[in-house]
Amino acid sequence: MPAGVEPGHEVVLETTRLLLRPWRVVEAVVLRELWTERDPRVPPHRRIDADGHPTLADLEDSIRTDQRPSSGLLAVQRKVDRDVIGYCGLVDTGRGAEGEPELAFELLRRVWGQGYATEASLAVLDWARSSGHERLWATVWDWNIASRRVLAKVGFTETERTEVDAVHGTTLFTRRRL
Ligand SMILES: CC(C)(COP(=O)(O)OP(=O)(O)OC[C@H]1O[C@@H](n2cnc3c(N)ncnc32)[C@H](O)[C@@H]1OP(=O)(O)O)[C@@H](O)C(=O)NCCC(=O)NCCS
Repeated sequence: MPAGVEPGHEVVLETTRLLLRPWRVVEAVVLRELWTERDPRVPPHRRIDADGHPTLADLEDSIRTDQRPSSGLLAVQRKVDRDVIGYCGLVDTGRGAEGEPELAFELLRRVWGQGYATEASLAVLDWARSSGHERLWATVWDWNIASRRVLAKVGFTETERTEVDAVHGTTLFTRRRL
């Protein structure tokens, strides 16, 4: 079990600079900022719509109703600044095999390029391994160079599997044995 995981309780992962732990309702504002910052090439269901949804209240509700103790997408908090800068974790999208969730991460633009996604991902890989997972997937748009680089740095390799979307680009399927 990685340091900081409390058996039967909420997950808390610790790295040199970061804590990864469940979201708090008050931090919905960070989620909203992530939504507003998304690349225009990201499909519409992952972007703020013309009516402004998801609103801050929508996102507060989503945190409030997600009561699973082991919920996989953890808030990433800097230990020194104590601010939440995004999320990293595991998500069951059903796109991988049974018991093989996907690694996912997204950080606020103002903290990009400082190695945080790599640091957070390595902690999540340790957590996944100690939780009994043997293999993880990660999917990434072909145009998303930063994310592809992070995945390569933490040991994911591209497979032959892709999904082509004429509008948004090609999704690459990568995987990593733990
Ligand atoms: C992907 C993301 C989480 C990376 O976060 P980050 O903390 O900046 O990542 P790191 O600093 O750990 O590593 C980024 C790497 O990508 C490289 N990189 C970033 N932009 C690049 C570019 N345009 N061309 C080439 N390399 C690039 C950096 O140099 C670094 O690699 P290095 O350590 O070898 O120099 C962040 O860009 C993000 O939130 N993007 C939007 C959401 C997203 O794409 N999520 C993933 C969906 S699959």
